[in-house]
Amino acid sequence: MKVEDDTLNFTRMFRKGKGLGRIDHYGRIIVSGMGGSGISGDIASAMCNSLQVPSVDPETDNHPVIAWKNYGLPSWANSKDCVICISYSGNTAETLSAASKAIELGCKLEVITTGGKLEKLASKNNCSITKVEKGHQPRAALPLLLTPLLYKLGIPNLDAQIEEVRKLPIMKERAQEIAEELKGRLPCIYANGVMMPVAYRWRCQIEENAKQMALHHEIPEMNHNEIVGLENRAPNSITVVLIRDNQENEITRKRFTATRRAVLRLRMKSYSDLKIVDVSAEGESPLARMMSCVLLGDLVSLKLAEMNKVDPGPVEVIEDLKTELSRLDGK
Ligand code: PA5
Repeated sequence: MKVEDDTLNFTRMFRKGKGLGRIDHYGRIIVSGMGGSGISGDIASAMCNSLQVPSVDPETDNHPVIAWKNYGLPSWANSKDCVICISYSGNTAETLSAASKAIELGCKLEVITTGGKLEKLASKNNCSITKVEKGHQPRAALPLLLTPLLYKLGIPNLDAQIEEVRKLPIMKERAQEIAEELKGRLPCIYANGVMMPVAYRWRCQIEENAKQMALHHEIPEMNHNEIVGLENRAPNSITVVLIRDNQENEITRKRFTATRRAVLRLRMKSYSDLKIVDVSAEGESPLARMMSCVLLGDLVSLKLAEMNKVDPGPVEVIEDLKTELSRLDGK
């Protein structure tokens, strides 16, 4: 399936999870996954950790959800933790290593995958396997990987949130306008709180689909470092993209206002060609707000791919690296 077709089908790929429910685990949950699969862990973690989302399980103690993007598991992981490994192909070395470590430590392990070595490992160890449809690029399969994860985490009112996502508009014209502001420039994408994984998704989609560099950072943290970097002209022309939640609190609203003004002052000083793009979430529920911006960013990355005259599908450098690493590992 082409990335372009999947993106146009993005909202419909979110389906209510028949038979999917909360996992029987009330401690820490580590979500392991890389790249297009790993972003689901970032989104789930932001939803669970954000102050704007009710606690996953108000009846019990803290229930942190941590996204993990490396080999093995964090040094503090132990048998009381639950590990959910997500890999579209089921063959990603870092995610397989996390799964093996989870088994070694005696953690509860669940996997979400199309198959591959991850399915085999999970099956051999009697772990729960959620199978996902084959034939998509991993990053274009976001709805297929994210939905079961959110059900496993017991996100409240998920059926209703998915219904809202399915009704989101596909903003092709807005995507075209934004892509024109980003073409041949360095997008610097800034967001806050629950919108942080969305900023990261914009960056990764621009990089993987449009084969163009992008940066992202968090507001307010970027007020303490990266904003200074804008004082001197960078080698590239820059477009600052501000991704805003439509339910941001007063403190965050003031932060964005002040940051925008600071960027405008820097433009006057040294950056006459600096552009600013404002993006605002649509919808009510946390999932719809996040996915409205994810979808817009995905569409922008495809418009940019068109402008950059590249095929958004293949990611040859990633594939070459994976082959090289398995050769080095003697596999
Ligand atoms: O979008 C992509 O193709 C990559 O970012 C992959 O998702 C990443 O390399 C991990 O592979 P997988 O999703 O198969 O675990």
